[in-house]
Amino acid sequence: MQAFSSKEISAVRAEFPALQIPNQCIFLDNAGGSQVLKRVADRIHDYLLSSSVQLGATYATSTTASARVTEARQAIAELINAADDREVVMGGSTTGLMFQLIQAILPNVHAGDEIILTNTDHEANIGAWKRLQQAGAVIKIWQVNPETLQLDLSDLEKLLNANTKWLAMTYASNVLGTINPIAEVARRVHAVGGCVCVDAVAYAPHRLVDVQASGADVLVFSFYKVFGPHYAVLWGRFELLRSLANLNHFFIAEDNLPYKLQPGNVNFELSYGCQGIADYLVAIGEQFGGSGKRRQLMQYAFDKFEAHENYLAQRLLDFLNSKSSVRVIGMRQVHEGDASRVPTISFIVENTPSETIVKHIDQFSIGIRFGDFYARHLIEALDLEKHGGVVRVSIAHYNTVEEIDLLISHLNTILPSA
Ligand SMILES: Cc1ncc(COP(=O)(O)O)c(C=O)c1O
Repeated sequence: MQAFSSKEISAVRAEFPALQIPNQCIFLDNAGGSQVLKRVADRIHDYLLSSSVQLGATYATSTTASARVTEARQAIAELINAADDREVVMGGSTTGLMFQLIQAILPNVHAGDEIILTNTDHEANIGAWKRLQQAGAVIKIWQVNPETLQLDLSDLEKLLNANTKWLAMTYASNVLGTINPIAEVARRVHAVGGCVCVDAVAYAPHRLVDVQASGADVLVFSFYKVFGPHYAVLWGRFELLRSLANLNHFFIAEDNLPYKLQPGNVNFELSYGCQGIADYLVAIGEQFGGSGKRRQLMQYAFDKFEAHENYLAQRLLDFLNSKSSVRVIGMRQVHEGDASRVPTISFIVENTPSETIVKHIDQFSIGIRFGDFYARHLIEALDLEKHGGVVRVSIAHYNTVEEIDLLISHLNTILPSA
């Protein structure tokens, strides 16, 4: 747990033009959407103004454009450690890609197939799956333990059986912040012959995604939370994706991945732009003293981000924990036993609507927010609708100690003392 040096935080912030604007808002709603890297915006601009033609033709600009989009997919494969870039399916949003996935799974669903969902997930990884009930699938819910706010593995055991076909869960909850033990869950689901679909949207801005090590069979996240544009990626194991139905035209071959799962064109310029995220991580890894290949440099950068984020998160948690009127909805420390959290911190204040807290903080041009964050079932299970949901402060690696201290000082004026 160590904050960046002043040189390091300056190097990081210099990459984000929005953070250079005088009197800019303090961004603490990063789990809603992060700021965008200059390198990403520059690449999108460059693509649109120099190579915006249809792919696949033989003339020079089209071959350039084709190469750029292929190269971008390879860079994203590298970013997530996919074994094969044909496993990388691009799309407009996590929600949209989930609906595409369900459409592709649908013909393989039989009456009585069981699908396990959690009540801690964002609706993107719940609602689409429920559509499979139309084909006879049975939905089972893995409920959060309302005391510990954890998903207990002993509860999962009771839900698993030979009919389990899928388990869909979040890598890290966008409300609780807890990082779930995906590899262990996957081991248990695989043991009964099922597959695991992971929503990594709230995780990917804070840890380097490694799809192969994760244990997941499918993993999805959105780039607008990871310093990029409104665009998303779905990764799946090659053989699994190959077994899914073709969502594209009848003449697109069954083994033409990822094309068969990407109906229409992907967004060329956003794909090309996203390569800038990988380049940023490599550049920061190098600048901060890392060495080795590109993935090692990315990991080095994320290790530094994690230490800095933990420092900021613990500072805010210590303050919130010191107030008897405040209940943190999630882990009260950045590490508890084997469990860790991302710096997405939710809380409620006794006898005060969450909206009141957020509106107070708005006056100081600090962006936080309140609500259910589309984790509607979680908020209902914890009986938090009566507060208007939770107040959520979501930290990114480019936030500073001073920003957290300013937020704390303004919260201090509105929270009952002690
Ligand atoms: C955990 C989580 N999953 C999924 C989504 C949905 O992502 P998208 O807007 O790309 O559909 C969000 C958005 O806030 C989220 O926080």
